[in-house]
Amino acid sequence: MTTSMVMASSHKIFLLFFFITFLLFPTTQAQTYIDHNCSSNKKFTANSAFQSDRTTLLSSLASNNATDFNSTTVVGRGDTVYGLFMCRGDVNLTTCHQCVVNATQRLPSDCPVSKEAIVWYDECLLRYSNRSFFSIVDTRPRLGRPNPYNVSNPASFMRTLYDIMNKTADEAAKPAVGEKKYASNARGEILPFRTVFCLAQCTPDLSPSDCRWCLSGTIGDLNLCCDGKEGATVLYPSCYVRYELYPFYLPEAPTPTPPSAIVPLPSSQGKALTYLLKL
Ligand SMILES: *[C@@H]1O[C@H](CO)[C@@H](O)[C@H](O)[C@H]1NC(C)=O
Ligand SMILES: *[C@@H]1O[C@H](CO)[C@@H](O)[C@H](O)[C@H]1NC(C)=O
Ligand SMILES: *[C@@H]1O[C@H](CO)[C@@H](O)[C@H](O)[C@H]1NC(C)=O
Ligand SMILES: *[C@@H]1O[C@H](CO)[C@@H](O)[C@H](O)[C@H]1NC(C)=O
Ligand SMILES: *[C@@H]1O[C@H](CO)[C@@H](O)[C@H](O)[C@H]1NC(C)=O
Ligand SMILES: *[C@@H]1O[C@H](CO)[C@@H](O)[C@H](O)[C@H]1NC(C)=O
Ligand SMILES: *[C@@H]1O[C@H](CO)[C@@H](O)[C@H](O)[C@H]1NC(C)=O
Ligand SMILES: *[C@@H]1O[C@H](CO)[C@@H](O)[C@H](O)[C@H]1NC(C)=O
Repeated sequence: MTTSMVMASSHKIFLLFFFITFLLFPTTQAQTYIDHNCSSNKKFTANSAFQSDRTTLLSSLASNNATDFNSTTVVGRGDTVYGLFMCRGDVNLTTCHQCVVNATQRLPSDCPVSKEAIVWYDECLLRYSNRSFFSIVDTRPRLGRPNPYNVSNPASFMRTLYDIMNKTADEAAKPAVGEKKYASNARGEILPFRTVFCLAQCTPDLSPSDCRWCLSGTIGDLNLCCDGKEGATVLYPSCYVRYELYPFYLPEAPTPTPPSAIVPLPSSQGKALTYLLKL
């Protein structure tokens, strides 16, 4: 082979790889809001010390642009306020920071006088409370978010899905306390019928066993919200899982994926997930 032929063919491979990457990992907007929850039984008085402490806490969280997780405590005149944010394991720090800033800007209007609140996006979550929740598994409030499309063979699909989800959860829960707890099957796992993409993540402050326990809860809830669906997300304050029949996250290490391994069927791709279920 001459040099120019080698170059020409590697150029083609390069283009092919780019094309595949573009198809499979389309660029998304900065952040996609999912839902929020405000405590309705724990409230503060408008313009009280708690409100200014919350402002301090949120701006401290928003000022951090160098990590994908951080927790902060503001010792106030009355209650202490605890807060944290966590970004999805595959998003870069720029997207992470934009998401966190957006969260800190919308929570005060979504939850004007709540002493405890959480907001979930596709790319990050952010929460605060007057109760110390660090290193604690919080499983409420919880949310199920089914993709409206059904698979054609729910029983065998769900059986295989649980198996893959359990493995992904095992992987996510392994790292020690304080370390990032995120796993995805980045290339998809081929079922007899479709390719499924899963991810699982816990806040890093959890221990491996607490993380796994939290994820077991979310995996169990897939049944309640989303049995037989082509995709679903179950969100807790401390952990979440998601699966889809298309890649919805970036591969952790940008290893080229063999084209034959991932051929997502486009039925539900990119369609809005239209409803939320309280679990
Ligand atoms: C959390 O944020 C604070 C303030 O921005 C910073 O000093 C600290 O290093 C951050 N923690 C981590 C683990 O990045
Ligand atoms: C983080 O913020 C600092 C100070 O505003 C800025 O100099 C730096 O470029 C930012 N880094 C990123 C990754 O956005
Ligand atoms: C971060 O990710 C977003 C969305 O995937 C992308 O548009 C952006 O270019 C990335 N930024 C950097 C600095 O990698
Ligand atoms: C938050 O993001 C949404 C789009 O996702 C945007 O419409 C809104 O203006 C942002 N809010 C702030 C305060 O940046
Ligand atoms: C949080 O605020 C609620 C409502 O004011 C109060 O009942 C509760 O004791 C506070 N929790 C802590 C840990 O201070
Ligand atoms: C917020 O979460 C609580 C506790 O799980 C739940 O009872 C309540 O219905 C939720 N509120 C909304 C508006 O979803
Ligand atoms: C999925 O199945 C449910 C229950 O069998 C049905 O109500 C719903 O219309 C189906 N959704 C689609 C998009 O076909
Ligand atoms: C997944 O793990 C749960 C317990 O966490 C177990 O009940 C279930 O049988 C497992 N499913 C599969 C398919 O391995």
